[in-house]
Amino acid sequence: MGVTYDILLHYLNKQAEATGESVLEKIDVYGRKKIVDIGCGGGFYSFQFAQMNKFSEVFALDVDERHLEFVKKQSRKKNIPNIFPILITPNQDDLPFKKQEIDLFFLRNVFHDIQRPIKYFSNLSKNLTQQGIVVIVEFLPNTKFVEGRTGHCTAENEIQLIMEKAGFSLKKSFQFLKPKQSFNIYQLK
Ligand SMILES: C[S@@+](CC[C@H](N)C(=O)[O-])C[C@H]1O[C@@H](n2cnc3c(N)ncnc32)[C@H](O)[C@@H]1O
Repeated sequence: MGVTYDILLHYLNKQAEATGESVLEKIDVYGRKKIVDIGCGGGFYSFQFAQMNKFSEVFALDVDERHLEFVKKQSRKKNIPNIFPILITPNQDDLPFKKQEIDLFFLRNVFHDIQRPIKYFSNLSKNLTQQGIVVIVEFLPNTKFVEGRTGHCTAENEIQLIMEKAGFSLKKSFQFLKPKQSFNIYQLK
């Protein structure tokens, strides 16, 4: 991987870190054995989840091999053995997990990249344990921010409608990342 790309992923992690603690303290992370970070990027949250739950398995998923190589390298450097990078494809609707296997799915700033979200989350609902949760942090359409101007965003009520149709109900909703991002936690209906 080029040095420039390395810098970009370190930068992504710095951005994630800025609100990381306040997001993590709102999620019931402890005791969750299998956690999936969808669109892990530089892996900031994968590293946090893995360190918070040393006996858990954290699956770091991304469509970009360079991101997964970076996460692998950083996991070795930080001596975190319980992260497992998995390469997926952008139009993959089915994730490589068993029925009721996963305790927590986490998506930060990646919801807008999911191509057929109702099908995707409906499939994903089968991978979730009965007490499992799906945490979604997503850029809001807001012209004050680059992402909101470039379409890398989803309206909060659209996420809510999609998740309802996919078989989820809203468990908790937080306002403190606004006006830049929404932050919602879903559970199975
Ligand atoms: C804006 S970055 C966010 C990275 C990380 N979640 C964070 O908060 O720092 C979006 C990430 O999602 C990945 N991605 C794009 N489409 C995806 C998809 N369909 N499934 C999984 N990951 C995807 C990108 O490669 C990138 O790493």
